[in-house]
Amino acid sequence: MKPFSLVLSTLLFWYFSNTSCSVHALLLGNETDHLALLKFKESISSDPFGILDSWNDTSNNHFCMWHGITCNNRANKQQKVIGLNLSGYHLHGSLSPQLSNLSFLKFIDLENNTFYGDIPQELGRLKRLQVLYLNNNSLTGEIPINLTTCSQLTNLHLSWNKLIGKIPIEIGSLSKLQELFISSNSLRGRIPPSIGNLTSLTHLKLVFNNLEGKIPQELCALQNLSNLLLDSNKLSGTLPSCLYKNVSSLSALSIAYNNINGSLPANMFHNLPNLQFFQIASNHFSGTIPISVANASLLEILDFAKNKFVGQVPSLGKLTKLQFLSVSENTLGGVPAKDLKFLNSLTNCSNLYMLSISVNNFGGQLPNYIGNLSTHLRNLYLGYNQIYGKIPAELGNLVNLTLLNMQHCRFDGNIPATFGQFQKMESLELSGNKFSGEIPAFIGNLSQMYFLNLADNMFEGSIPSSIANCQKLQHLDFYKNNLNGTIPSEIFSISSFTTLLDLSQNLFSGNLSDEVGKLKNLNYLTVSENNLVGNIPASIGECLSLEFLELQGNLFSGTIPSSLVSLKGLRGLDISRNHLSGSIPEGLQNISLDYLDISFNMLDGQVPTGGVFGNVSEFAMIGNNKLCGGVSELHLPPCPSKRHRNFRLIVVVFCVCAFLFFLSLFLTIYWMRKRSKKISSDGSPTINQLAKVSYQSLYNGTNGFSEENLIGSGSFGSVYKGTLELEGSVVIVAIKIIKGKSSRLWLHPPSTGIANHTLNLEQRLNIINDVASAFHYLHYECDPTIIHCDLKPSNVVLDDFMVAHVADFGLARLVGKYIGECSMQTSSVGLKGTFGYAPPEYGMGYQVCMEGDMYSFGILILEMVTGKRPTDEMFKDGYNLHNYVQVSISSNILQIVDPGVLSKGNHQLHPGVESCLVSLLRIGLACSVESPNERMAMVDVMRELNRIKSYFPSSELMEEAD
Ligand SMILES: *[C@@H]1O[C@H](CO)[C@@H](O)[C@H](O)[C@H]1NC(C)=O
Ligand SMILES: *[C@@H]1O[C@H](CO)[C@@H](O)[C@H](O)[C@H]1NC(C)=O
Ligand SMILES: *[C@@H]1O[C@H](CO)[C@@H](O)[C@H](O)[C@H]1NC(C)=O
Ligand SMILES: *[C@@H]1O[C@H](CO)[C@@H](O)[C@H](O)[C@H]1NC(C)=O
Repeated sequence: MKPFSLVLSTLLFWYFSNTSCSVHALLLGNETDHLALLKFKESISSDPFGILDSWNDTSNNHFCMWHGITCNNRANKQQKVIGLNLSGYHLHGSLSPQLSNLSFLKFIDLENNTFYGDIPQELGRLKRLQVLYLNNNSLTGEIPINLTTCSQLTNLHLSWNKLIGKIPIEIGSLSKLQELFISSNSLRGRIPPSIGNLTSLTHLKLVFNNLEGKIPQELCALQNLSNLLLDSNKLSGTLPSCLYKNVSSLSALSIAYNNINGSLPANMFHNLPNLQFFQIASNHFSGTIPISVANASLLEILDFAKNKFVGQVPSLGKLTKLQFLSVSENTLGGVPAKDLKFLNSLTNCSNLYMLSISVNNFGGQLPNYIGNLSTHLRNLYLGYNQIYGKIPAELGNLVNLTLLNMQHCRFDGNIPATFGQFQKMESLELSGNKFSGEIPAFIGNLSQMYFLNLADNMFEGSIPSSIANCQKLQHLDFYKNNLNGTIPSEIFSISSFTTLLDLSQNLFSGNLSDEVGKLKNLNYLTVSENNLVGNIPASIGECLSLEFLELQGNLFSGTIPSSLVSLKGLRGLDISRNHLSGSIPEGLQNISLDYLDISFNMLDGQVPTGGVFGNVSEFAMIGNNKLCGGVSELHLPPCPSKRHRNFRLIVVVFCVCAFLFFLSLFLTIYWMRKRSKKISSDGSPTINQLAKVSYQSLYNGTNGFSEENLIGSGSFGSVYKGTLELEGSVVIVAIKIIKGKSSRLWLHPPSTGIANHTLNLEQRLNIINDVASAFHYLHYECDPTIIHCDLKPSNVVLDDFMVAHVADFGLARLVGKYIGECSMQTSSVGLKGTFGYAPPEYGMGYQVCMEGDMYSFGILILEMVTGKRPTDEMFKDGYNLHNYVQVSISSNILQIVDPGVLSKGNHQLHPGVESCLVSLLRIGLACSVESPNERMAMVDVMRELNRIKSYFPSSELMEEAD
């Protein structure tokens, strides 16, 4: 009995304990994944598409149903996550190490987001992981060594991040790896030879890093390797010959932009039957181009540019699939009779769209058979060679050309009439030859053209007015020819001009047309060294994008137009060697010019002392005998003291003024009396007559803001012409309707304003958040990225719902998607921004970059929280808004925050309010640090703002605290 019961109870115990245990395990099984996913969601601060909203625990919403989740066998109760795919949703956050609890995970795709921080070592615990796509995020730190223990990995894509350090040697243990992409990071060190162990590898892409050392021989063991892309690194040594002897699977080989040297054997291409893409540009290869290249008959892209190759280009007629051929920037040619023969073989390449032979030693005449090249040809570069003679008319057969570069050869004769067939031409560069004759009128047919350079030739006659048909021209250079006549005013109707209009060193005569003011987007205008006469048109002050204006060496007379002072972006102004008279507009000292040359004119009067006038190395003024004053280094005579000379005049003027004053006083009193009588009858106010016009009368006076009355509109709003009846007389007025409400108004209400007008903290926080989202969009979501360059309160506009909008993109710049760190690079772009808000580096010639906007954003936050303008008088001699906040933030915050933010008369801060203020100020400080590369990025700001908003005390709470 006893033993039995014992056995039974043991059995029962065994049964129950095991049941409960397995139930427990079952729960744990799906609960782990569930929790891990929730943790992953928690580490994401921004989810603009609301993708993770579906990750919630409402009933019947099993995590396997959540967006982006794939589970194994759905019928099974114990479902496990095997796939996580959230690519391209602009998710911003860190990568939670808890992902490693998803122990069945095989597939992770988080490409095209902004995950930041390290790739967690814990991912090494995902023993089933096969695919890891983390391309195009903001991941930092090193490649985690533990990842190399995910032995099932086949695809590892980490390109377009900010990874540093070396490629771990242990990578050689990922024996199933097929694709390894770690391009566009900041990896350094050598390519580990252990990569040669990855026998399954088909794709190895390590472009755009700082890898150095030799290309390891061990790569030759990779018998399945099809793409080997190592360009844009610092690799040196020679190209291992075993690579082209043994790895016949190669279809793409690129080692361009490295420091690789050596010569290539003539038979190099004998064992590369699959090669489609071969790129070795920008290295130190020498010797001749291997003749066997014609054996790689699948070649489509062939790039030998920027090396030290010599000799002749082999016949390439067998490469019938060739699309792209560049041999530019070598020392090829040198035997004029043979040099261009290979062009004949290229006539077999019917897919050729790009051919470049520029910057070599090719001589001889351009053969007629150039016209037999593929009509697919779009880009043809022939410049910087010794090619001479007339352009064969047959060149015009290549009717799909969009770009033709023939500069700096020895061509002569006319532009052939067949060029009129280039209907798709966008960029035509013929400078530095000996072309002559007139600029043909058919140039107007090339209506797609945005770049035209005929500089430094012997063109003569006048500019055909048909040029005005080229309504896409951005860059026009006729420098140094023999062109004459007046400059046709039609040329100024080309509103697309941006980079350059250069008509200098010709024989143009007559006036410079008033129409020049239409060039609203032009950066560089020069008409120097011609025979232009008359006044400098005042309308030139309307060319608001001008950075350089050169009018020197003409016969301009009259005064320097004062409108020049409205060219706030001007960096260089040369008006020397003309017949200009009168005084120097004082306002020029307020433009931050890099140089100003007014020498050899007939200017008189006072030289200002501020701005460019204060620096004698940037300001030239000799040859103007009547100038006076200026800074002492100019050694000009002092200006005659006006006190003496004009004493009598002053007395007279004083008397007249006094008389007028008393007269007007008398009239005013008389008028006010008369009016006050009238008011007592109709009760309307007396002051600010115009400011108090009713909306109704504005509405009536503009015919209900009708189209006919609209004078103009722009980013600021619209201007209408209106007729109002005031004081019984009819006046015509201009009425400006401002779009939205500028927060200058809001942030610093007029002192007469009632306290209610100031924004409370919550409103300010919302505005900051709106601006941050706008900049997140501009910086990360637009392609190309937009840099605003002029963020300040007056460019933040509030709508009726108090939603803030960023306005005025007048100075905005587009930059490519990949911009590295904010770097010292003389920008071609004169960028000023607004004093106080523009970052310090812009004054030092740095490129525009996101960090610049971040500075302005930081200042904006500091201003919004403290109520102090960065231009406040107290900020001088290196003391600025940033320092001001910095010193008081931890000790004395009450002292620096705008009283308007605090509750009325309350000097006790609600703790939630205080931490919100401190956090905002910290963001402001972190964004406005001096060094651009240390500034906080907008993605991090967004995350921080979300955090602040989450603990921001609700309105009721705050009222209670009052
Ligand atoms: C929860 O997710 C479901 C779908 O998965 C969705 O329909 C629902 O709106 C979500 N609930 C919340 C509160 O977001
Ligand atoms: C886990 O599985 C149990 C048993 O099938 C089920 O009742 C529970 O809802 C599951 N939990 C989750 C989060 O899926
Ligand atoms: C990621 O972005 C790149 C570049 O925009 C695009 O080519 C690629 O298809 C995207 N990948 C995914 C999975 O959306
Ligand atoms: C990384 O791998 C080592 C060795 O396998 C292990 O001891 C360590 O715990 C792992 N680190 C993490 C964070 O998983």
